[in-house]
Amino acid sequence: MKKLLIRSALLEDAQSLFEVHRNSVETLCTGDYGPDQIAMWLDGRSPATYREAIAAGNLWLAHTDRLQGFIEIDGNEISKLFVRGDAAGLGIGARLLNEALQRIKNAGHAKAYLESTLNAEMFYAAFGFQKVGEGTFSRGKSPVSIEIIKMELDL
Ligand SMILES: CC(C)(COP(=O)(O)OP(=O)(O)OC[C@H]1O[C@@H](n2cnc3c(N)ncnc32)[C@H](O)[C@@H]1OP(=O)(O)O)[C@@H](O)C(=O)NCCC(=O)NCCS
Repeated sequence: MKKLLIRSALLEDAQSLFEVHRNSVETLCTGDYGPDQIAMWLDGRSPATYREAIAAGNLWLAHTDRLQGFIEIDGNEISKLFVRGDAAGLGIGARLLNEALQRIKNAGHAKAYLESTLNAEMFYAAFGFQKVGEGTFSRGKSPVSIEIIKMELDL
């Protein structure tokens, strides 16, 4: 892989973020969730979805000659982490997560929190995140929901 760089996302990255988000969900999450759940997850998203987090300086991305993955934080929460399907397993998620954890720690938080997809639980556990609960996530009025694992890490 070409050299990987991490930087804050800019508004002009919104379209690529949308594409990587969709690609990641459609390629890496289909083992644990069915077609209805994947469709619900992506329903209603557009490049505009990322604007607020970008403007707040809460979204970073990893890129080579193209966008490979991104991470978003909200307070002490890791609210999004998605890596392009064909770039998974190369250490990009770990690089992005380390960056976000450092930011959360520097902001004075004692714990980091996240709601993991079933497929990512072992990835976060390898960083020391511990399960603190279970829940479901749904969007809008959709009757479809996806199961998530609530996890915390002492910083
Ligand atoms: C989960 C995800 C972010 C991990 O990113 P990645 O770049 O593929 O992971 P990395 O290559 O950085 O892996 C880091 C370590 O975690 C391990 N790991 C990665 N994915 C794993 C998985 N699904 N299960 C178990 N271990 C995993 C790797 O083996 C690696 O361990 P090592 O350093 O001992 O080799 C990525 O696979 C992804 O985007 N998945 C789909 C979207 C998603 O579920 N995001 C989480 C939303 S909460």
